[in-house]
Amino acid sequence: MKIVMLGAPGAGKGTQALNIAKEFGIPHISTGDIFRANIKNQTELGMKAKSYMDKGALVPDDITIGMLLDRIAEKDCENGFVLDGFPRTIPQAESLKAALTLQNTAIDHAVDIEVPDEVITTRMGGRRSCPKCGGTYHVVFNAPKKEGICDNCGSELTQRADDKPETVLERLKTYHEQTQPLIDFYNKEGVLDTVDGTQKPDEVLKCILGALK
Ligand code: AP5
Ligand code: MG
Repeated sequence: MKIVMLGAPGAGKGTQALNIAKEFGIPHISTGDIFRANIKNQTELGMKAKSYMDKGALVPDDITIGMLLDRIAEKDCENGFVLDGFPRTIPQAESLKAALTLQNTAIDHAVDIEVPDEVITTRMGGRRSCPKCGGTYHVVFNAPKKEGICDNCGSELTQRADDKPETVLERLKTYHEQTQPLIDFYNKEGVLDTVDGTQKPDEVLKCILGALK
């Protein structure tokens, strides 16, 4: 199963991608997580990406597309994958389509998690993330069992640098300008599933699994 997650920043892509990956036994690939790991390790790629991420802008396609296509060429992606945060531009979607077409395959589902901007801005301040395994929590809506500690791997949870209110507004603007057109792209491909992301996380998951099965 090859799945793409769509939705604004904070819509719940990461939260649900992790659930889907577990359900289907496929890797969860988040371009944001890959960039953050590179920033943490101070790689050249990380330093380049950081300058865009800090502003709430997209990392340029020439960096992002190659990185993602290399990742999905790895062996663990043979039976599929769930992409979280890619594609984010029409050229990214076209490149992904072209690469998959070469292998006689295609995206099976594009899951769009719909959440209005007002809900997103209130969510982001409470997000906590695991820098080690990518687990995502919220201090009120999705609290870890032990405060500040990842349920999955026991690491200390952190707050993301780009979750400052002014950066969140920029990320939303970027989303509406550059990423929202992908909803129409995948609708035309005939693989779009839309779910209401304002429900509780387990309700959102139920709707997604219903659409995927
Ligand atoms: P990325 O890491 O992908 O960030 P994003 O798209 O802005 O999305 P988020 O991770 O903020 O939100 P999410 O939808 O995953 O929500 P989450 O599950 O965490 O990208 C970061 C940056 O990297 C970009 O700005 C860009 O610069 C760069 N980048 C990445 N990919 C790129 C690409 N392809 N091209 C170019 N640049 C790229 O949930 C959010 C919060 O809400 C959490 O606290 C969660 O617990 C809570 N929550 C989740 N579901 C619910 C619910 N149903 N009800 C209540 N709370 C909920
Ligand atoms: Mg995410």
